[in-house]
Amino acid sequence: MHKGRCILLIVSGGIAAYKTLDLIRRLREKGITIRCILTEAGARFVSPLSLAALSGAPVYQDLFSLQDETEMGHIRLAREVNIVAVVPATADILAKMAHGLADDLASTTLLATNKPVLVAPAMNMHMWSHPATQSNIAVLERRGVQCVGPTCGALACGEEGEGRMAEVSDLLATLDTLLSTSTHTHQIEMAMTGRRALVTSGPTYEAIDPVRYISNRSSGRQGHAIAASLARHGARVTLVSGPTLLSDPVGVHTIHVESAGEMLAACEDVLPVDVAVCAAAVADWRAASVSQQKVKKRGDVKTLLLVKNPDILALLSQPGPRRPVLVVGFAAETESLLDNACRKRTAKGCDWIVANDVANNQVFSSAYNTVHLITENSVTCLRTMTKVEIAESLTERIAAAIRKKRVVGSPENLTQPP
Ligand code: CTP
Repeated sequence: MHKGRCILLIVSGGIAAYKTLDLIRRLREKGITIRCILTEAGARFVSPLSLAALSGAPVYQDLFSLQDETEMGHIRLAREVNIVAVVPATADILAKMAHGLADDLASTTLLATNKPVLVAPAMNMHMWSHPATQSNIAVLERRGVQCVGPTCGALACGEEGEGRMAEVSDLLATLDTLLSTSTHTHQIEMAMTGRRALVTSGPTYEAIDPVRYISNRSSGRQGHAIAASLARHGARVTLVSGPTLLSDPVGVHTIHVESAGEMLAACEDVLPVDVAVCAAAVADWRAASVSQQKVKKRGDVKTLLLVKNPDILALLSQPGPRRPVLVVGFAAETESLLDNACRKRTAKGCDWIVANDVANNQVFSSAYNTVHLITENSVTCLRTMTKVEIAESLTERIAAAIRKKRVVGSPENLTQPP
C-alpha cells in the first residue's frame, strides 16, 4: 500500500533497539524503503551489520563521514524521506530534540527535517516520569511530533512500570496513518510546488495627520497563516501585509505596507500570480486630504471628509490576461452572513469567498474562527477550527482547484515560475 515510500529510522541506545529489526522487516514487506541512522549508544545494542542486512542499505553513523555525506548528505536524508521515526527514543535524544541540540548525525538530521516525526520512548520508569522528560515530551508533542508509548511492564533494569517501548504492531499502525497523511500532503505539494501566490493580510492604516489614522481590529493572523500554509506546501508566496504585531511567516516574501493605496501598488507589482487570497481588512475609506501637521482639537465639532479606497480584491478579479487563475476573497459580516457574502462574491468577481461572522469582536484577536466557503455552486460550512487549520483546509482546496484547472486543459493559464 505504501510502496515507494521511505522511512528514516533513527536507532538510539536502549535494550529495545533489537525490536527495530522486526520493525524493519515488517515495513519492508509492505514495500517501504528504510534508511537507518544508528547513534553511538544505539550501536552498543544493535549492530550496524544487522540493520544494513535487514534494511538492504548502508547504515549512517557519523556526521563527519565523508563517505556518508558523498553518498547522501544528512540534510538530504532529513528532507527526502517521507517520515522520520526515532525507535527507540532515549531520554537523551528526546531532550536533544526538545532543545534543538545538534551534536551528532541523529540530532542534526532531526533538526533539519521538515517531515513528520514519530518517537517511541523507551527508558527506565523513573527517567520517563521525571519532570524534565515529561516537559520535553510536551514540547515535542506541541510541535507535532507523534509519540507512541511507552507502555507499562517489566523493564530491562528489573523494575516494573511505565517505560517499555511500544509494541512493533502499534508502531506499524501509527506509521501507516502517518504515511497515508503524508501521501495526501504530497499530492497538495505536487499541485502547489512552484505556483505563485499572493496573499494580503492585516489591516491598513489610513492617515489623517502625522499621528492619527483610520483602521480596524484585524490582527492579520488568518492571512499570515494562509501565506505560511501555501509556502509550506511548496508555493512561492508573496505576502502583502498591513501593520500587524506578527512576525513574517517563514519562507514567505513579505512586503510591509500601511495604506490601501500602498497595498494595491504592492499587489500589482507582484502580478502575475496563479492564486490570490485577499484576507486583508482593507480600510474602505481614507481622509480626502492628509493634514501635514497634527490637527488641533480647538473648536467644537470636526468633520472629516472621507473618500473611498480602491477595492483590491475587485481589481485583482477583473477579467484579463493578468487575472490569477483563482481569486479568493474574505467577507467579514456582522449580519445576514451568507446572503451578504454571496452578494459580495458576485459583486467583486472573485471565484471564492470565505465568509466569517465578525459580530462579536473576538474573531479578530482569537486563534479560532468559524468560516463558510462560498464558490459559484456551493456553500461549505467548516467546523470551528484554529486559523492555522483553516489555512491548511484552504490550501488543500486551492491545490485541488489548481490541479483540476490543469486537468481541464488550461495549463497555459498557470503562471510559469520565472
Ligand atoms: N477588500 C479589498 N479592498 C478593499 C476592501 C475590501 O481588497 N478596499 C477585500 C478584503 O480583503 C476582503 C473582501 O474585499 O477579501 C471583503 O472585505 P470586507 O471588509 O468584508 O467587505 P467590503 O468590501 O469592505 O464591504 P463592506 O464593508 O460593505 O462589507
